[in-house]
Amino acid sequence: MLDHLNPADPGFARDPYPYYARLRAQGPAARVPLTNGTHAWLVTGYDQARAVLSDPRFSNVPPQGAGRPGPDSPARRARGCLARHMLNSDAPDHPRLRRLTTATFTPRRVDALRPRIEHLADGLVTELAGELDRHGTVDLVDAFAFPLPVLVIGEVLGVPEADRADLREWTYRVGSPADALEPGAVDEAWTRLHAYFTHLIGHKRESPGDDLFSTLVHDASEGGLDDGELLAMAFLLLFAGYETTMNLLASATLMLLTHEEELDAARRGGPGRWAAVVEETLRHGSPLEGTTWRRTTERVDLGGGAVIPAEDSVLVVLAAANRDPGHFPAPDDFRPARYLPEGRRAAPHLAFGHGPHFCLGSRLGRLEAAVALPRLFDALPGLALAADPAELPYRPGLLVRGPRRVPVRRR
Ligand code: HEM
Repeated sequence: MLDHLNPADPGFARDPYPYYARLRAQGPAARVPLTNGTHAWLVTGYDQARAVLSDPRFSNVPPQGAGRPGPDSPARRARGCLARHMLNSDAPDHPRLRRLTTATFTPRRVDALRPRIEHLADGLVTELAGELDRHGTVDLVDAFAFPLPVLVIGEVLGVPEADRADLREWTYRVGSPADALEPGAVDEAWTRLHAYFTHLIGHKRESPGDDLFSTLVHDASEGGLDDGELLAMAFLLLFAGYETTMNLLASATLMLLTHEEELDAARRGGPGRWAAVVEETLRHGSPLEGTTWRRTTERVDLGGGAVIPAEDSVLVVLAAANRDPGHFPAPDDFRPARYLPEGRRAAPHLAFGHGPHFCLGSRLGRLEAAVALPRLFDALPGLALAADPAELPYRPGLLVRGPRRVPVRRR
C-alpha cells in the first residue's frame, strides 16, 4: 500500500527522494493517493518520463473549471490571463504560440545578453558584499538567487531600469506563500503586474526597443496572436524563467558550499568545470520538481504494469527521473564530473523537460548560472554557509524545488 503524498509536509519538501525511490521500485508509474482524497499517477522512471513527455495522448490543456473557485475580481482576471499560454496548450495552438518565440530566442540573441547578465550579477555581488559587512549574515536567495533572474527577465522584456524595482517587488509577492504577506498584498501585485504588462505591450508596439519582447510584440501581429495571448506570454516568460533559475542558483550555491572539493575544482577548472557544476545541479537538484500536469486523452499502457485510464491526471516527476539508478550511477551523489566532456558522459538529465514543451529558456537559464556562479565565488572567496544544511527549509509543493534560504557569512 502506498503512503499518501503530502507535498506540504516540510520533511517531504526537504527530502522527497526516498519516497520517489520507493515509488520507482514498484514500477515506472504509480497511482498515488493524495491527501485531498483524490489520486494521481506519478511517473518516476527515466525512460517512461521521456515517453510521456513526447506522447500526444498526454494533454497539457487543464480541464474546464480547473483552479480555485472564487468571486470575480481584477486580481482573479489577471491570474486568469496566465491560463492562455503555450505550456497550457496542445497542438495546433502550442506550435503556433511557440513558433513565434523560437524566432526570438535564437542562440545568438540569448548569447548577446551575456554582458548585461555579467553587469547585473556584478551589481548584486557588490551589494551582497556590503550587506555582509553590515549584517554579518545574509540570505543568498533573497540577495542573489531571486533578484538576478528577475532582473534578467526585465532585460528580455525590455522593462525600463526605473521600473525594475517594481517588477522585482510584484514578482516577489505573487511568488511568496500567501500567508507570508498582508492580506490583499498578493492580489494587488497581480493587478499591478497585469496593468503593467498591458501598458508595456502598447509601449513596445509604439516605440520598439532592441529587447526580445519588442521583437515578439512585432511578430505577434503577423503571427496572428491577440493581445490576451501576448499578455499570457509575458507572464509565462516571467514566471517560467525566474523561480526555476532562482532554484538552480540557490541549489548550486548550497551544493558548492557543502562540497568544498567541488568548489575548488570549479575554481581551478574554468568554464568547462563550471558548466559541469550547472548540469549536475540541474540533474541532482531538479529546479522544476515535476512538470506541469498532464491528462490522458485515452487509456495508455506505459509498460511495467502501469496502465493509465483515460482522463486521469499524470505528473512526470523530473526530480525522480533524474535520479533513476538505471541511468545515473550513485544517483544521490553530487558529482559534477559526470558532465565533463572527457570520459563517459552521463545520460542527458530531464531538468528542462523533453518533447514539444522542452524548456524555451534552457540556454538562458544555463547562461545565467554560468555567469553568476564564478562571479559570486570569485568576488567573495571566503563565503561560508551560516546554517546547518540539514535544517534548511525547502519550497513546499511538487512544482518547484530548492532551498528557501541559504544564509551565508564570511569565513
Ligand atoms: C534553470 C532554469 C530553468 C528550468 C530548470 C526550466 C525548466 C523547464 C521545464 C522542465 C519545462 C517543461 C515543463 C513541462 O513540460 O510541463 C519548461 C518549459 C518552459 N520554460 Fe523553462 N526552465 C528554466 C528556465 C527558463 C527561462 C529562463 C525561461 C524564459 C526565458 C523559461 C521559459 C520556459 C517556457 C516559455 C516554457 C514552456 C515551453 C512550452 O510550453 O513549449 N524557462 N522549463
